[in-house]
Amino acid sequence: MNFSKRMNRFGDEIFAALNLKKQKLIDEGRTVYNLSVGTPDFETPEHIKKAVADAAMDSKNWHYSLGDLPELLQAVCDYYKNRFNVELTPEQVTSCNGSQEGMGHIGMVLCDEGDTVLLPTPCYPVFIAGAKMAGAEPYYYPMTAENGFLPDVAKIPEDIAKKAKYMIVSLPANPVGSIGTPQLYGEIVAFAKKYDILIIHDNAYSDIIFDGVIGGSFFNTPGALDVGVEFFSLSKSFNVTGGRMSFLVGREDVVAAFKKLRSQIDFGMFLPLQYAAIAALRGPLESVKEQNKMYELRRDTLCEGLSAIGWRVPKSKGSMFVWAPLPDGYTDSMEFCLELVERCGVICTPGCSFGPLGEGYVRFALTLPPEKIKAAVKEIEKSGIV
Ligand SMILES: Cc1ncc(COP(=O)(O)O)c(C=O)c1O
Repeated sequence: MNFSKRMNRFGDEIFAALNLKKQKLIDEGRTVYNLSVGTPDFETPEHIKKAVADAAMDSKNWHYSLGDLPELLQAVCDYYKNRFNVELTPEQVTSCNGSQEGMGHIGMVLCDEGDTVLLPTPCYPVFIAGAKMAGAEPYYYPMTAENGFLPDVAKIPEDIAKKAKYMIVSLPANPVGSIGTPQLYGEIVAFAKKYDILIIHDNAYSDIIFDGVIGGSFFNTPGALDVGVEFFSLSKSFNVTGGRMSFLVGREDVVAAFKKLRSQIDFGMFLPLQYAAIAALRGPLESVKEQNKMYELRRDTLCEGLSAIGWRVPKSKGSMFVWAPLPDGYTDSMEFCLELVERCGVICTPGCSFGPLGEGYVRFALTLPPEKIKAAVKEIEKSGIV
């Protein structure tokens, strides 16, 4: 079979060796500390589970939904008003099967083959995959220690800026754990206006942000609604990753074009999930805040624990991840991860899987309770790998 040339744009699965090693350890009965995948271990709130279960008992909710319920769109608008103090209209909102799917498709809405797009590196891998599916040419802007792990639009060459179609910004950032500031967002909006670039803000971690900072929306920045759209995901805030309940919100023309593309391939979100999303958006937010505190405790436990055994790992400011430079003596993140899992059963993700500038680091996901994180750190210490 000759598969499409498009398929050549994607690399091979690089996790195969790591997964094999993990399975081997499990088969041998060894304790495995999985700090690799960004799937929350916290419970989905009862009222969300009940909403989906109740709605699923009604036969008419098993038909094609053919679009978003008006009450769902209104719930997103009201949430944005109450949570972020941002005014949206229902025409500025549409659902997608997770921001992952949305990011995978939005490039096709905006780009022709060969168009330039601005992507962070290291970054969440679908940012790159979405651009490649659209045939766009990524220009990677660095999210490295030299820039405080933040975008610096002043360093993007003018000839690149002039031809760029869109720029993805995602803060709090996966994997690097940095967060935005009003000043930074102001610079990004000014840059977008100057060069007529659409900003796509991925806001997956607005509710996982530390040290007393309150997460916001890109649209808190004056002028942002003229130049941007935002992916707003319920996945991490409400522990509903499997439900695929996310939204694209913001500039109406972009939302309309995105809906048009998706309507070619999708008959709408499963209605019980639409009711679950309404329940999440209109329900209490205490658990979201409590959970944020628990993520912060996990971050402190991991970063302070590792630092105490001689592996100096800076504290992330947001997201559910910690971005750790490789300990002295290591330069290859995949090799290090394989050795780490073999020697102490701790699994993390090699930095090389997050794009061109991810090498030299590993990413830990804060998906285990503090006692388990402490035990993992103890194992790392005992192994002598640091
Ligand atoms: C930056 C970022 N965006 C989006 C997602 C996925 O969100 P969703 O579940 O809405 O597809 C993740 C998940 O890890 C992420 O880290």
